[in-house]
Amino acid sequence: MSLEFEHLVGDYDGCLGAALAAGQGYLRASSHAVLLGRVGSAIDEVPATRCPDKRWFQRSYGRCVTDEPEDLLVGDGLFYLTEQRKLFLDCTAGHYQMTWGYAHPELTALLLDGIERGIVWDNHSNIPSAPVKRLTEKLVALANPGRDFGELQDDPESLNTVLAGVATGTVACAAAMKMMLLHHAGEGDPVFIVLDGNYHGTDVLAQRLRGMWPEIFCNVTIVPVQPNDPEELRATFAQHDGNIAGFWAEPVMMNREAILIEPEYLHLARELCDETGALMAIDEIQTAFWFPEVIYCARIGLRPDFVVLGKGMTAGFHPLAALVYRGKLDVLEQYDAISTNGNAALAALIALGCIELIERNASEIEAVGSAWHAALAAIAEEFGDRLVEARGIGHMSGLKFRDRDDCLSFHRRAVERGLWLRAHAYHEGHSTILTKFALPMDERTVEWSAEAMRGLLRDG
Ligand SMILES: Cc1ncc(COP(=O)(O)O)c(C=O)c1O
Repeated sequence: MSLEFEHLVGDYDGCLGAALAAGQGYLRASSHAVLLGRVGSAIDEVPATRCPDKRWFQRSYGRCVTDEPEDLLVGDGLFYLTEQRKLFLDCTAGHYQMTWGYAHPELTALLLDGIERGIVWDNHSNIPSAPVKRLTEKLVALANPGRDFGELQDDPESLNTVLAGVATGTVACAAAMKMMLLHHAGEGDPVFIVLDGNYHGTDVLAQRLRGMWPEIFCNVTIVPVQPNDPEELRATFAQHDGNIAGFWAEPVMMNREAILIEPEYLHLARELCDETGALMAIDEIQTAFWFPEVIYCARIGLRPDFVVLGKGMTAGFHPLAALVYRGKLDVLEQYDAISTNGNAALAALIALGCIELIERNASEIEAVGSAWHAALAAIAEEFGDRLVEARGIGHMSGLKFRDRDDCLSFHRRAVERGLWLRAHAYHEGHSTILTKFALPMDERTVEWSAEAMRGLLRDG
C-alpha cells in the first residue's frame, strides 16, 4: 500500500488535499495584478477545509487552540493563502528565509531533477557528495570576489575554509564563538564586544551575548556597544585591549529595528580588531543571499575573520548554514561543531540554484531593493509627524514610528489588511515595522505595497 497524503496529513473533513491543489492552482493561474487586487480578502474559489490544530504546540507557538487560525495553507511566489482562504502578501519572505518566495518554479524543477539523478537527501558528513563540495567552493569564491582559487588555497589569511556540515545559523555562530575562545585561550578572561540588541542564535553563549544567563557565565565578559557610535567603539577596544576574543555584528540589525550598520563603522571595527588581536565575525544570516553580491561583506569590501551564512541560502528548502573563515583559524575538531543533518546534498543543490538565480537577476534585485527603500523613505517624509525615518537597506527595510502604540496598531491593521509584516515593538523604545520581501518582488508590488501602507497610515 502506498503512503497516502490524506491519511497522513489531511482527512479532517476529507478535502485538505483538494483545498491545497485548488489554492495552488488559483495562485499560479492569477496574475500579480489580480492577486494584489484581492490581498486581504477571502478567496472563495478555493474550497473551505479543516486543518489539524495546534493543541500540542508549545505555548509560545500558539498552543491555545483558536477556531479559525490564519495559519498558512498554501503559498506561491510572494503570496499565500491561509486556512481560512484569506489572501496575504508576504512582506517578510516567510521567517526571512524564503529568498525566492514560495514554490519557485525553477528551484522546484532543480529539486526534482536532482532527485531524478539520484542526489541523496542527506548522508554521513564524512562522505559529502558533489553539491555540498561545489557549494563550499562557490561560497569561497563569493567571499573573495576577483581572487584566484590557487592563490586562495595557499593563503591561510584568506577566507578559504568553510564549515559546511551545520543545519542552523545558531550552530554556525556557535562554531565561530568557539574558535574565538580557542584563539584567545590563556590570555585572561575573554571579552566579547557586541552590538546592543544583537541576535546570533539560540545557543546559551549566543544568548549570553544579548544579555541572558548572566549567572551562568562567570569568566566571560560581554560588552555591548551602541551601533554606529565610533567613539564608544574606540574607547571600548582601548579599555579591553589584549583581552578581546571577538567582535560581533550584523550588517543590518534585523532583530533590532532594521538598524543599518554604516560600512565605515564596520571598517573601523576591522582596524580595531587588527590593532588589538581580536577576531571579527560578521553575522550574515539575514543579509546574505539578498543582494546582488550574495555576501554583503563583498558588497562593502569588508574582510572579517568569520562570515556566518544560513537562512536564505537554501531559499527555505531545508535548513542549512555555513561558516566561512580564515584557514589559519581552522582549530575545531569535527564533532566540536556539527549538525548530523547538515550535509544535506539536495539542500546544497538548491543553495547553488538560489545563488545562480541571484547572480542572474542581480540588476533587478538592486533596482527593486532601492525602489522599495526609496518608497519607504518617501512615506517617512510624508508622514513625518508619526514616522521618524525609513530603516535598513533594499528589500530589508522598515519604518520607525514615533510612538510604540501607533506602531503596534499599524501592525495589527496591516495584518488585517493582508500584509504579513513584523513589528519590533516588544522592547522599551522599539517601534519599527519591518519588511524583508522575497527577491521576486517587482516594481508593481513596490508601488502597491507603498500605497497600501499610505492607506493604513491615513486611516489609522
Ligand atoms: C542574525 C541572526 N543570527 C543567527 C540566527 C540564528 O539562526 P537559526 O535560527 O538558523 O539558528 C538568526 C535567526 O534568525 C539571525 O537572524
